Amino acid sequence: MLHIPSLADIPSDIPEPSVLVPTMGALHDGHATLIRAAREIAGESGSVLVSIFLNPLQFDRPDDLADYPRTLETDLALCRDLGANAVFTPSSTEFYSADHSVVVRETLLSRNLCGATRPGHFEGVCTVVLKLFQVLRPTAAVFGKKDYQQLAIIRRLVRDLSLPVNIHGIETVRDPDGLALSSRNLTLNQKHRADASRIHRALLAARDLRETGEQRSEVYLQAARHHLLHDAPTGLKIDYLELVDRENLQLLPKVAGPALLAAAVYYDDVRLIDNVEI
Ligand code: PAJ
Repeated sequence: MLHIPSLADIPSDIPEPSVLVPTMGALHDGHATLIRAAREIAGESGSVLVSIFLNPLQFDRPDDLADYPRTLETDLALCRDLGANAVFTPSSTEFYSADHSVVVRETLLSRNLCGATRPGHFEGVCTVVLKLFQVLRPTAAVFGKKDYQQLAIIRRLVRDLSLPVNIHGIETVRDPDGLALSSRNLTLNQKHRADASRIHRALLAARDLRETGEQRSEVYLQAARHHLLHDAPTGLKIDYLELVDRENLQLLPKVAGPALLAAAVYYDDVRLIDNVEI
């Protein structure tokens, strides 16, 4: 496995198809599933590229960036075990000029959900993903549905800027109790970790209403809100809970077609997100 710590070390002859898995490190089984999916897409003679870059541009809270777990040595070992061909780990000082002044902004899908409560977040994501595509030139890239809004926005980025990259979305990987795997789970205290499976349970309980033929979004949202807040531990706070159209992520008054029920929940200052398709 090739470790590429700097832009100057990127080889010019990466065998295609080349499939990129962009990450911010602190790799877990969710990332591992993406890397395995990338191998399926690339085939044995293609290339699996992983980027590990804690992108300062997408963090709206400095303490969140400071607290983000950093585990580069074990991350590299995992990538090697999974058969990645190359891992790109640029430094932020090299990747962003000190006076960088150009960003990529998506203007519709990023208005709701995480975009509403994390100003500038998706601008940071779109900018770094475009830069990664530029310097690594992958033919395809893999993203997780756990970050559904991110995946939908990246699809728009690729469509609207005519980028020659095929985007693949991968199902959310969960712990046995249903909690979506996330690097942030490591920063939950014991009590909050034990409670956090309620997020997925709340979304599933609301989704079950579909069987009754229910269409009113407010009824779904009330059910999910009830499960999120009933007997909740101190420190739990809903950041958002929304029902949106799965394509354009705009709020839905009625569940008629493909919808997404998405939530962000704080346990003290740890923010977790999850979603289910309805
Ligand atoms: P990060 O949070 O490290 O996630 C990297 C990729 O792993 C994303 O596509 C994310 O959706 C996926 N992922 C995370 N947890 C997952 C899970 N439990 N199941 C399935 N996939 C999961 O997302 C980012 O980094 C950054 O925003 C990035 C795209 C790298 C741009 O900086």
